[in-house]
Amino acid sequence: KHTYIHEHACTYRRTQDSPLKVLTVATAPYLDQWPGCGGLRRRVGVFQGNRHYLHNFLQSVFSCMDLRERQGCTLVVGGDGRFFNRTAMELVVQMAAANGVGRLIIGHHGIMSTPAISSLVRKYKAMGAIVLTAGPHPGGPHGDLGVKFNSANGGPAQETVTNKIYQISRTLEEFTICPGLRVDLGALGRQEFDLENKFKPFTVEIVDSVESYANLLRNIFDFAALKELLSGEHRIRIRVDAMSGVMGPYLRRILCEELGAPAKSVVNCVPLEDFGGLHPDPNLTYAAELVDSMQDGHYDLGAALDCDGDRNMILGKHGAFVTPSDSLAMIAANIFCIPYFQHTGVRGFARSMPTSAALDKVAQATKIDLYETPVGWGFFGNLMDAGRLSLCGEESFGTGGDHIREKDGLWSVLAWLSILAIRRKSVNDIVKDHWRKYGRNYYTRYDYEGLDLDAAWQLMDDLEVLMMEKSFVSQRFAVADNIYQVEQADNFEYTDPVDSTITRNQGLRIMFTNGSRIVYRLSGAGGVGATIRVYIDSYEKEDIFQDTQVMLAPLATIALKISQLHVRTGRSGPSMIT
Ligand SMILES: *[C@@H]1O[C@H](CO)[C@@H](O)[C@H](O)[C@H]1NC(C)=O
Ligand SMILES: *[C@@H]1O[C@H](CO)[C@@H](O)[C@H](O)[C@H]1NC(C)=O
Ligand SMILES: *[C@@H]1O[C@H](CO)[C@@H](O)[C@H](O)[C@H]1NC(C)=O
Repeated sequence: KHTYIHEHACTYRRTQDSPLKVLTVATAPYLDQWPGCGGLRRRVGVFQGNRHYLHNFLQSVFSCMDLRERQGCTLVVGGDGRFFNRTAMELVVQMAAANGVGRLIIGHHGIMSTPAISSLVRKYKAMGAIVLTAGPHPGGPHGDLGVKFNSANGGPAQETVTNKIYQISRTLEEFTICPGLRVDLGALGRQEFDLENKFKPFTVEIVDSVESYANLLRNIFDFAALKELLSGEHRIRIRVDAMSGVMGPYLRRILCEELGAPAKSVVNCVPLEDFGGLHPDPNLTYAAELVDSMQDGHYDLGAALDCDGDRNMILGKHGAFVTPSDSLAMIAANIFCIPYFQHTGVRGFARSMPTSAALDKVAQATKIDLYETPVGWGFFGNLMDAGRLSLCGEESFGTGGDHIREKDGLWSVLAWLSILAIRRKSVNDIVKDHWRKYGRNYYTRYDYEGLDLDAAWQLMDDLEVLMMEKSFVSQRFAVADNIYQVEQADNFEYTDPVDSTITRNQGLRIMFTNGSRIVYRLSGAGGVGATIRVYIDSYEKEDIFQDTQVMLAPLATIALKISQLHVRTGRSGPSMIT
């Protein structure tokens, strides 16, 4: 009885004997559904093994929306195609319908990159989006699943919203669902469903997000110039790795079909539910295959994108690593190579606090406003909504512009290609020119994972007390003939210039007189126990072509000495160096 009738072009109307039933089901609350800024991320087993775990969280998301706003509203839904994607997607649709949502915009087969989702929220003026990703964490039966809620601006929900979702989840007693609703995720176009007690049909539109995202980029970059760069007489060779995530179809369509790069320029382009068993995170460890393939100098630019397409890593010839902090500063310094910014002008730059201060030098030289924000893309989104920010980024492999409200991996690659097209130089020469002009922020991050939570808190507390002593400022630290003098020390707090909200305790910062910095942050994420991250940013005006770890050794020694990190944790070195 439940059949599709093909009405015209791309519209399907579902005929039913009677309207679909909407059920209210009793449930018991879970107390641990705290959605961090990346959404609720858990092992797939947690969703599979705990009755109604996902139902409960989704109901909390829907209940969090004001009833009047929710009735008949539009939401965008998509995900990175990880294991469990189909089951989760089906549930989102059945519960959205039952909760009065009027229309869902869904990617073909339910698969969409995070940047594409952000752009569709804006395009359709949707109330927000439900994003099924846990990027850049592994997928598969033993991997993670994540559910993220984005707001009407297309960016991650603000903390006030995620707090509310959490509060609702802790006392949830029932959820509503339309269990008979089956949507065909493979059929592009519109599908309509009649629901019991609902006057208007519930609509699902399956869209080609690749095409609409390509359109967005076409209006930002000079595709003719990029085509010349990638397929003209003096073409360069690129290798872009989709890491078996969602980005494959976008890379093929935009880089190969549209811009003429040879098919072999893009690799790992088939989206897999377990990302080939690899960690879909674009850094030197996990994109090792890309790094290796760059060694022989065949490729002029290499890039890797994470599974949901928001993060990126850029490499020059022979695999020369452009740190995310440098990449951001270099895009900023060459921002008018991107036509979009010639039209909109540049309203401001921003970086997350732990990101190196390389961007600050560009902001000073160009007299463009600079914002230093806490970690979390939502802080950038707020500035963008207020028309104060055009370009921003994070040390954790994220860069983006104000065309959407998420970081954007492929946008970043096209930004670099635009610079190469206009400047007619190699990646490595652009990097060197930049250092010559602005100086170089040697930068590294030490992670100490799996620390005892209490001990880690105590360490940070004691360190803060020490840093707040009057005598700490102006104190000098020396290793051999390297002398660093403290200029300022604080626990970073941020007052949002738009809405004046204050975000406290964002990390301990020690700033030195010659532009170098040490930052310490404690986080509970990252598996067992606590993680302390130490960010070491040493600024050099002259000595700019040395080895990073060698150049950073003195300041790293000072960072460990001030914090007593090794003595107090019993560690002899970091769990990981980025
Ligand atoms: C999504 O889920 C389906 C059904 O479980 C699975 O076959 C598919 O591989 C998953 N991922 C993608 C990218 O389609
Ligand atoms: C900052 O101090 C360190 C240590 O003395 C030194 O190596 C570095 O060159 C200084 N940076 C600048 C920009 O003067
Ligand atoms: C890459 O990221 C992962 C965490 O996502 C980390 O374990 C690994 O050490 C990182 N490697 C580098 C070189 O940044």
